[in-house]
This record gives sequence, C-alpha cells and structure tokens, in this order.
Amino acid sequence: MCGQAGSKIADSNEEIEDVEVLWDMLQKGETKSLLKKHLTTEVYEKLKDKKTSLGGTLAQCINSGCKNMHSGVGLYACDPEAYSVFKELFDPLIMDYHKISKVQHPKPDFGDVDNLDFSDLDPSGEVIVSTRVRVGRSHAGYPFPPGSNEQKRREMEANTIKALEKLDGELQGKYFSLETMKKEEEQQLVADHFLFKDDDKCLRSACGYNDWPAGRGIYFSNDKKFLVWINEEDHLRFISMQKGGNLAEVWKRLVKAIKVLEENLTFARDDGHGYLTFCPTNLGTTCRASVHIKVPKLSKAPRENGEPGSRLDEVCEKFNLQPRGIHGEHTESVGGVYDISNKRRMGLTEIEALMEMKNGILEIMTIEKELE
Ligand code: ADP
Ligand code: ARG
Repeated sequence: MCGQAGSKIADSNEEIEDVEVLWDMLQKGETKSLLKKHLTTEVYEKLKDKKTSLGGTLAQCINSGCKNMHSGVGLYACDPEAYSVFKELFDPLIMDYHKISKVQHPKPDFGDVDNLDFSDLDPSGEVIVSTRVRVGRSHAGYPFPPGSNEQKRREMEANTIKALEKLDGELQGKYFSLETMKKEEEQQLVADHFLFKDDDKCLRSACGYNDWPAGRGIYFSNDKKFLVWINEEDHLRFISMQKGGNLAEVWKRLVKAIKVLEENLTFARDDGHGYLTFCPTNLGTTCRASVHIKVPKLSKAPRENGEPGSRLDEVCEKFNLQPRGIHGEHTESVGGVYDISNKRRMGLTEIEALMEMKNGILEIMTIEKELE
C-alpha cells in the first residue's frame, strides 16, 4: 500500500513506512543526501503531521531518501501541493540544488529559435557522439505517482495520445504502449538510449513504478529524433535527440514540439516554481540538455585541488554541469564516454539553461584537448 489509512491517496504497490520509522532510518543511516541536510529536527517536527488536500504525507515525500542512502537528493513531491504544504523542507533543498537564493522562477523563454547564435558544438564529429534535450511536464489536475492509480494513468495516456496526433511534419510518428511491446523490441529501444526502464531504486521507493507497465509508453517521430515518454518519472517527458553535436537542430525541434503540445494539453505550473515536476531537481525549466561526449583524459586525471575524484568532476562542478554514465542516471561510463548536462533547471530561463550546458561543454572540450 502506498497510501496511509484514511487518506484519499489511491491504493498502489509500493510500501510507504510510517513517518517516525523513516525519520529514525534517516538519523541512523549514512548519507550525503540533501534530504538529510535539510530535514532538521525542527523542520521534521513542524511537518510530520501535515497533509495536502489529496491526503499526501511527508512520509510519501521522504520514503525514497530514507530507504536509499545512495540518494543525492532523496525527496519527491507526493503531489503538486507538497511544494507549498511542506515548503519548510522543499524550499531550502530547492535553493541548494539549483543554486538560487530565493524560490522564484522567470517566465519561459526558449530564445529566438530562428536566430540562434550557436549550431554544431563539434563540427569535427569526433568528440560528441550525440546530443539530447528533454523537458518534463505534468498534466494539470493530476496527482504525482504516490497519489495516482491505474485509471488516472490510463486517462493521462489517452489524453496525451490525442494531442500527439496533432504533430505533423518531422514530428509526426506513432505511439507504442509498453503493455503490448515485445520484450526484444523494448530491450533494443533501451539499449539505443530511446526508452526508459524500471530499474531505479529511488524512483521505485517513490511509487514511480506502481501499476507498471499500465499507462506507460513511448511516442517517436518517424526518424526517432523526437520522442515522448508517458508516465515514467513525470507524466510526460518530451525529448529531442540526434547523433553528433548539432545542438541548434535539437533545440529547434524540441521547441516546435512543445509549442504544439502546449496548445493541446494543460500543464501544471506556478509562478514561484515554473513547471511542476515530481522531483524538485527538475522544477522550473525542467530542461536537461546533454551530450554523450568522449573525455578519456579528463575522466582519468585527478582533481587539480588534490581532493579525491576526477578532474572531470571538478570541471563539471565549476560549470554547473552533471556527469552521468552512458545508460543514464546512476550508470557507469563506457570507454571514457560520459553523459554531461546542465545541472540547474530552476531560477533561469530555458535558453539560459541551454547556454549553461553549451558554454560548459565547449570549455570541457578545450580542456580535454589541452591534456593531449
Ligand atoms: P533523463 O532524466 O534526462 O531522462 P536519464 O539519465 O534517465 O535522463 O537517461 C535517459 C536515457 O537517455 C538513457 O538511455 C541515456 O543514455 C539517454 N541519453 C541521455 N543523454 C543522451 C545523449 N546526449 N545522447 C544519447 N542518449 C542520451
Ligand atoms: N532521488 C534520486 C536521488 O536522490 C534522484 C534525484 C534526481 N534525479 C531524478 N531522476 N529525479 O539520487
């Protein structure tokens, strides 16, 4: 059972412990998570008995971080209202992660897509293997995974399919449900970096895989350069990707798709947080722009400051970038190729988030070259 007795939260299949048990686990566990840092005794005492109007609890928000000591963050919003009801916990954690001094977010700005002052980050074609930008969106009026159920997931899936039918030209494609997809096809799509999987322990403890695979699936354009994930971590993820380093092409395609889909669906958003997402790391622009990039030297070199870790980690920290392995979050690098993306998504506009990634990646390419 995901919900607590007496709450309006739907029955589902991930165990949410009692809040006191979770608090105890967090006190005893060794973790560097932002949850541990910001859930002080004072904040805990203030929030432990509060509920959102859907019946969402603090236990649902912290279950993942209390059970997974490897969490970097460890907190999810049980439903959109959690950002205000549990504000004393979310606000400082949000400011810490996104490096902002106030929980506020500018209006969306995707830049002047017809006059972008960048194009291919790697005209040589030798360093950047592929480029991908994704945004997350939540359907207004629907809960996040702890408060969801099979019927709601199917409703969201059906509404999205209707909107996807409006896409045309290069965005035109087909929707594939995970429920009917052949296992081999699913595995191939995962291996090719197109499709999500259900193997993230943190997301599992946050109810992210409840009722799996009901209501889940993927849409892709005929050339597989534009994709939509339905009911993975967020209700929706829009993705634009292609081989090589042409960030401008990837960005233009994504912005075009967002505009069409925004006309046909209503997304959850508020002035303070921008677009609302399940995880506080994705709030605001929700934009993660990444390259798969070859950095064999930087990843082997030690930090210049002598601390443990690689020079790559050091440079990424300096430019607000985040390195991941090539099969996504919590995976390892293969052959010196890393997924490197902007880390901050809130408190800056979409085009600024993209530029943060672009400028950092250009610096990384220069440093990698100098190490030759
Ligand atoms: P996200 O949170 O952006 O969805 P994940 O880390 O879960 O990211 O990765 C999802 C999938 O996207 C993984 O298969 C990952 O390898 C792939 N991916 C991410 N960035 C790129 C990229 N630049 N090129 C190709 N695939 C990518
Ligand atoms: N909860 C996980 C952690 O704390 C993931 C955080 C960010 N990633 C995400 N997919 N939302 O490590």
